[in-house]
Amino acid sequence: MDRYTDKAKSRVRQADVDDLFVNRWSPRAMTGEILSEKDVNSLFEAARFAPSSMNNQPWRFLISKRDDENWQLFFNLLTEGNQVWCKDASVLIVLISKKTLDKSGKQYKTHSLEAGSAWQNLALQASLKNIVSHGMGGFDYEKAKSALNIPDDYKVEMMIALGKYNKKLSDEKQEKISDRKPLNELVFKGKFN
Ligand SMILES: Cc1cc2nc3c(=O)[nH]c(=O)nc-3n(C[C@H](O)[C@H](O)[C@H](O)COP(=O)(O)O)c2cc1C
Repeated sequence: MDRYTDKAKSRVRQADVDDLFVNRWSPRAMTGEILSEKDVNSLFEAARFAPSSMNNQPWRFLISKRDDENWQLFFNLLTEGNQVWCKDASVLIVLISKKTLDKSGKQYKTHSLEAGSAWQNLALQASLKNIVSHGMGGFDYEKAKSALNIPDDYKVEMMIALGKYNKKLSDEKQEKISDRKPLNELVFKGKFN
């Protein structure tokens, strides 16, 4: 099996870190094959176990599979640049987060952050299963809100494409592994500098 995570093995590490974090990356090359219900559920199960303030679990995933009646609606939300490669995705997801606490109904500050941790859980579980997951901000947020009946107390966060890796296409397109900023630009002792 062509594991897409193999391509990231060249990434340089600055400290000891598990392969899981280094080997995940975001290919665009997918085969257009359908992912099984079991595989897709496994990713949402990983997301479900993300931590959140007061265990509010504000993440919600609106999903469409390429063979269902909502596919065109989800696909049309994407920018042209993302449509070019998402035509080969198996699942499109719109991730939204609830802005208020279930218990009190009050607005709180960390709902987006928590939705982000759910997305990261999903992405890491996907890479463990050799499923491509690719986050996207390139879509029409307003259109998503209205077309998908998203209530005002939810924030549209991102879209995610899932699919089976297409190594041949990835090689043809010469997909590149992304770099990272060095730790000393990211971690500060005390005050920001
Ligand atoms: C919130 C978010 C939005 C993104 N938007 C897009 C997008 O619209 N189109 C795209 O091709 N990639 C998009 N990406 C993928 C990033 O470019 C990619 O994650 C980043 O370059 C790091 O590369 P890696 O994921 O392969 O490690 C997005 C990623 C995230 C997390």
